[in-house]
Amino acid sequence: MCGIFGYVNFLVDKTRGEIMDNLLEGLQRLEYRGYDSSGIAIDGDNKNETIIVKVPGKVKVLKQKIIDENVERSTVFDNHVGIAHTRWATHGQPMVENCHPHRSDPTGEFVIVHNGIITNYRALKTLLVSKGFKFESETDSECIAKLFKHIYDTNLKAGISSDLNELTKQVLYELEGSYGLLVRSTHYPGEVCGTRKGSPLLVGVKTERKLKVDFVDVEFPDQEPVVNHNAAAKNELGLLPVAAGESNLRTSQSRAFLSDDNIPMPVEFFLSSDPASVIQHTKKVLFLEDDDIAHIYDGELHIHRANKKNAGESTIRQIQTLEMELNEIMKGPYKHFMQKEIFEQPDSTFNTMRGRIDFDTNTITLGGLKSWLPIVRRCRRIIMIACGTSYHSCLATRSIFEELTEIPVSVELASDFLDRRSPVFRDDTCVFVSQSGETADSILALQYCLERGALTVGIVNSVGSSMSRQTHCGVHINAGPEIGVASTKAYTSQYIALVMFALSLSNDSVSKLPRHKEIIQGLQRIPEQIKKVLLLEDKIKELCDTKLANQKSMLLLGRGYQFATALEGALKIKEISYMHSEGVLAGELKHGVLALVDDKLPIIAFATKDSLFPKVMSAFEQVTARDGRPIVICNEGDEIISSDKVLATLEVPETVDCLQGLLNVIPLQLMSYWLAVNKGEDVDFPRNLAKSVTVE
Ligand code: F6R
Repeated sequence: MCGIFGYVNFLVDKTRGEIMDNLLEGLQRLEYRGYDSSGIAIDGDNKNETIIVKVPGKVKVLKQKIIDENVERSTVFDNHVGIAHTRWATHGQPMVENCHPHRSDPTGEFVIVHNGIITNYRALKTLLVSKGFKFESETDSECIAKLFKHIYDTNLKAGISSDLNELTKQVLYELEGSYGLLVRSTHYPGEVCGTRKGSPLLVGVKTERKLKVDFVDVEFPDQEPVVNHNAAAKNELGLLPVAAGESNLRTSQSRAFLSDDNIPMPVEFFLSSDPASVIQHTKKVLFLEDDDIAHIYDGELHIHRANKKNAGESTIRQIQTLEMELNEIMKGPYKHFMQKEIFEQPDSTFNTMRGRIDFDTNTITLGGLKSWLPIVRRCRRIIMIACGTSYHSCLATRSIFEELTEIPVSVELASDFLDRRSPVFRDDTCVFVSQSGETADSILALQYCLERGALTVGIVNSVGSSMSRQTHCGVHINAGPEIGVASTKAYTSQYIALVMFALSLSNDSVSKLPRHKEIIQGLQRIPEQIKKVLLLEDKIKELCDTKLANQKSMLLLGRGYQFATALEGALKIKEISYMHSEGVLAGELKHGVLALVDDKLPIIAFATKDSLFPKVMSAFEQVTARDGRPIVICNEGDEIISSDKVLATLEVPETVDCLQGLLNVIPLQLMSYWLAVNKGEDVDFPRNLAKSVTVE
């Protein structure tokens, strides 16, 4: 949902060309977050001039526009701030006026990039229009740039010169909604402020010199917010200037980077929505918390708080070292990230288990959960909460959770859970599952559960994400960066992490030991078995080329453990190939969906062996009796299904019932991939979608 990127060089000479290349490269790595439009803002030749280039379309279109506009590349800057944006449209169509960066005025005194939604933008816009501001776009974001200028001018008129951090605080005080935000200004050359609330933002630091400190003390304001909202004191705009005595809050307390001898040192900073976009430059990053303001000037990073609300929380922000490698975010020999990620699953599933399962003793240790297990065991119910594919991984494992833990488990779509204001109690355990750890619906549900005192557990891929920081405890699924918009390897790793969680919760039960052993041994074989399933690619590709080409719709039938696989397969096909597809509980077929079945409708039936196999076969008979000819996903060497009744069989290895979905989903991932490629669709950038959904 939009990606923002900023680049600051200090005492490091860079040409404008190099600065633009850094911004464009950063944007390209964020493109999965939205690709409706892209844009950059950089310095002109004098400090009062801002160059903004923006365009509907992907970063490659922006690159071309920069070439077409002949933006001069050779000017050298030893201190410069550039900001950039890639957009997933929420307010206003992807036309040039609506692209970011947005400016306060035609000269670009204040220029911002924004990820999120400003919910009170209409009121702000009305206000600012009445003050003579002329809006250029239909976006909610533009009011932020105008607000900066308005407050700056108001302060100036009152004879107060505020620094960029104070100004940002004043602006934030007026904003409602969510934001990851960067602002640069001709009034503060070489400075940038980055702040977040509900949308991710981190700062990467690159320097040849050793950092004197690897943590930052956060500065909490020592008085109430800089804008006085006391009704009596409020002026007609509700935008009072900061009082003279309150200005200049810079203190050494929040100072982060100094050379040992206090002499400014060469340093580069990268501000970004995602660590994957900075690791080619640096692995040293600081993840901002909601309401943090990162103020960068004179080669130093200062962290301030936008308000006092969270006083009492940690005042330390630590510089972390990313474990990610550059090759993890490159396509390598694959044509698309999605294809690469599908084929990575033998490794990614292994990595989820690595160091956690001892296959000799059949034991599991989940470091991030260990000390919390006794509390979870005593809880009265487990609520799993997630969206999309992550929700399906919860559905896929709910039954084994209930079987092993004997605790009732409910599975909730985060948005619906919130809409219902579902009751949550202190003795509930709420498990949040998310690849990105930033999905707005899930994060809001997490906050809802935290407020009600429940224990919260995160099953998350992105290290440092909001969800992994805000939950009490959890497991990183270690699938590695997932860049393809359609989630594949995260699903199988979430699935395994949840099974491991269920196993850990029940490892004190002697009666369950045989079942434990069976599942753990099954898990050990999964990576090799996935390799075997991936060999089906040619057969699946051929099916897509021939029998499934030009079809409009598809049904996927599953039951028990395979219902989740049917839903997940249908979602993959929809989002990538745009073919309508529906996952149906096989037992429900006769209650309505059977009316759709004829000799033309493509149907996928999951008929791998488990206790529900006879019931699945009865659904199969109902379909074939109506001339339906399903593609059947069955176990290797299974002859129960006669060949004249099926369009094709896709044979997968047999595993323990509760793990079979890990293998059965892979043919569907491949099928959605090849259906989309055959139609010439942009697999990694499906229309209207974005990877990390940071809006409600
Ligand atoms: C589908 C897909 C989405 C996500 C959903 C939740 O392929 O990727 O359905 O699963 O948006 O995202 P996370 O897991 O990041 O919370």
